[in-house]
Formats: sequence, C-alpha cells, structure tokens
Amino acid sequence: MQNPSKPSVADRSDPAFAFDEAALIRAIRLLTDPGDGRGNGTLNRLAGAGFPEVGLPEGGMGEMAALETLAPLVVGGARDLGTVHGFDHMDPPTPWVTWVTALWDAALNQNLLHPDVAPVARQIEARVVDWLTPFFGMGGGHMTPGSTIANLTALWAAREIAGVETVVHSKAAHLSVPKSAHLLGLRAVAAEILADGGIDPAALPGEMAKAALVLTAGTTNHGAIDALGLAGRAAWTHVDAAWAGPLRLSKRYGSLLDGIEWADSVAVSAHKWLYQPKESGLVLFRDNAAAERAVSFGGSYLALPNVGVLGSHGAVAVPLLATLMAWGREGVARRIDRGMADAAALHAWLSERSDVAVYGPPTTGVFLWRPHHRQPEAVRASLPVGTASLTRIDGRSWLRQVAANPMAEVAELKRAIDRALTA
Ligand SMILES: Cc1ncc(COP(=O)(O)O)c(C=O)c1O
Repeated sequence: MQNPSKPSVADRSDPAFAFDEAALIRAIRLLTDPGDGRGNGTLNRLAGAGFPEVGLPEGGMGEMAALETLAPLVVGGARDLGTVHGFDHMDPPTPWVTWVTALWDAALNQNLLHPDVAPVARQIEARVVDWLTPFFGMGGGHMTPGSTIANLTALWAAREIAGVETVVHSKAAHLSVPKSAHLLGLRAVAAEILADGGIDPAALPGEMAKAALVLTAGTTNHGAIDALGLAGRAAWTHVDAAWAGPLRLSKRYGSLLDGIEWADSVAVSAHKWLYQPKESGLVLFRDNAAAERAVSFGGSYLALPNVGVLGSHGAVAVPLLATLMAWGREGVARRIDRGMADAAALHAWLSERSDVAVYGPPTTGVFLWRPHHRQPEAVRASLPVGTASLTRIDGRSWLRQVAANPMAEVAELKRAIDRALTA
C-alpha cells in the first residue's frame, strides 16, 4: 500500500509523468543499441520522421517512438569519450552511477532555490561541499554548472568584499576569466607567461591593492600550474583549478597544488576530472559566510536568500555524491593517477622521437606536441577520432593531449600516432 501523503512516481494519473518500468528499460537499452547504426546522426532524420525543419508539429508521436527516432541521432551521433583512443579534451566519460542518479534528478526535478521543493537535495549539496572543501583548505562553497560560473562568482565576491577593480591573470588563463571581468565591469590585465605556460611573477603589476589575482592550476593549453606561492600578493587571490583541482584528492600528486589553501576562492569543474555529467562544478571560499553574504539576493517569494549566480538549479550534487560514495577518495585518485601516468608515458615516448617537438612537461596530464615536417592538422586527420585535439599558440598549431579518460590505452595511442607520423 502506498502512503497517500507520499505518492510514488508510479501512481501519477498522467502516464507521461509516471514510472513505466518496461518503457524505461527499453529506453535505457537504446543507449547501447540505438538502432540504424552509427553515422545516421544528422537532423535530416527528424524530417524523415515527419518533423520538418520549421514549424512545431501539432501532434506528437508518443514517447517511445520519439526516443527510438532520436536514439540513432543522439546516441549514434555522439562521440564515445571512453574509447582506448580518447585523449584529447577535458571531457571524461561518466561512470554509470551518475547515469542513474542523473535520471533520478530529471525525474524528481528538485529546485535548490526553494527548500520546499528540495528538502534533501540542499543537504546533499552541503555534504558534498563539506567533503571536498578540506582538500583545498577552504571553508565552504556551493555548486555551479562549471568553472565559468565558479570563476564569475568568485570574482563577484572579490569585487564586493575586497573592492577589487582589476583582475590580473596570465595570458594562458581561461577565457572565462577575462569574460567574468568584463561582465563585472572590472579591468582585465593579462600577464606574460614563462616557457612552461605558468604565469611570470616578474610580469605582475607592482601594485595589486585593488586587484584580484587569478592563478590557474592546470592551464587549458599547457596544463601548467601558476606559482601558487603568489597567493596573497593581491587584495584577493582566486585559483582557477577547473582542471587540476581534483589532483588534491591524489596522495601522489596532491602536493602539486600546495599553496592553494592560501587562496580566497577556488573554482573546480566536477565535470572534468571528477568524471561528472555536465554541468557540475564548485566555487569554494576561504570565508564562505562572508562570500555568501556578498553574492546573495533575497526576494519576497524566497524562504532563503538566493546565493550565487543561478536562480532555479538542480541537484547536480546527487551524481557527485553517488560517485564519491561508490569510489571513495581512493577510487577517484586511482583514476586520476592513471591519467597522469598515461600522459607521462606518452610524453616520454614522444620526447624520444626525432620527428616531433614536444611542449611539456605534462604537469597535470596535459601536454602539446607537433610534427617537425607535417602540419598538425594533417596528422590529426589521420589519427583515430579523439586521439588529440588542436590548439594554437603564438600563431602555430599544436596537437594537444588531455588525460581525462581512464580507459585510454597508451599502447594504442602510440600505435595510432606512429602510424599517422610514418604514413
Ligand atoms: C583552466 C580552466 N578554467 C575554466 C574553464 C571553464 O570551465 P567550465 O568549462 O567548467 O565552465 C576551463 C575549461 O576548459 C579551464 O580549462
């Protein structure tokens, strides 16, 4: 018997909103068997199914027909991020425990803006934040849809609390840093970098009493870590640890980010090296109470102040909590450590070759290389999908390796690169 005050999703009167076990199992199977094979991933497929390019159709085709029509497009047309060759972007495959919890999230649609419609989800987010903040020496924080919003929130707090007027960052900082400065009406100053891609301390302005200094832990192109010992030189120090932050969970590599605990705020993307579905990230503050006051707005219909940039937002902490419970610190660290070892092995092998230049070292599992006598674009075109991405530095193209995928196989990567270079 169901408790009438606690209706189950199975009891809902409109079947479109209700749990249908057989349909859900069929729908989940489409993930591994989308039908029609790969390569049928274009939107023309919708026209073929009676959905023209323009004009919302009057009638629908029903849930299962919609899913079966979409599966070859959405599933068949997607890149598999967990192949043996996947070594190109900061986008990992996700563990299955997150698939299910993301499904729960979608079915339950909790809104963390209102305690009324997220009675437990807010506590879950607080728990995840409590588990992760000590690794960064911070006092608390909240989840964001990634580090773009985490960087924006941190610099917003910096402006409110420390009165900063300028954001100083390196030329290798992520575009979200100058973008945040722009949105906040702050002046952005890009300092020169050293050969390893880290910020050049000698290039910093002498006077930073009205500045926020953004240090990057794991730059997007080189994976470099700015000298975190610079924390405290400005009115506010923010560490953008979008990529490399999770290294703090590794006993082996955590010390690479020593000094991060002197920052005023830290950004971490959980949808990168914590293997979470997008959009999942964290902004952490040394003095979280002060930061929350600085970036909160109230409102007549809100029971609690709205903290941060987002209004309505979902329970992205649930898949993260499930992952941390399933794996523990050790399970996360083991997968990150493997990525670091893979990047080091591939870097060492490429460094021995006379036909390529390597831009390293792979400090945080990211590095660049380019062939001496061929265009990187041409080499990449003959590599299996996902083997390397392309980036440009000082007007030249480089191939970029990123160790986000714990199922990459270094032997396969070497074989593929060797073949592409000697073809
Ligand atoms: C160093 C760095 N900061 C910030 C970001 C932006 O993070 P997100 O994509 O999570 O918004 C990225 C993304 O690649 C990054 O590499």
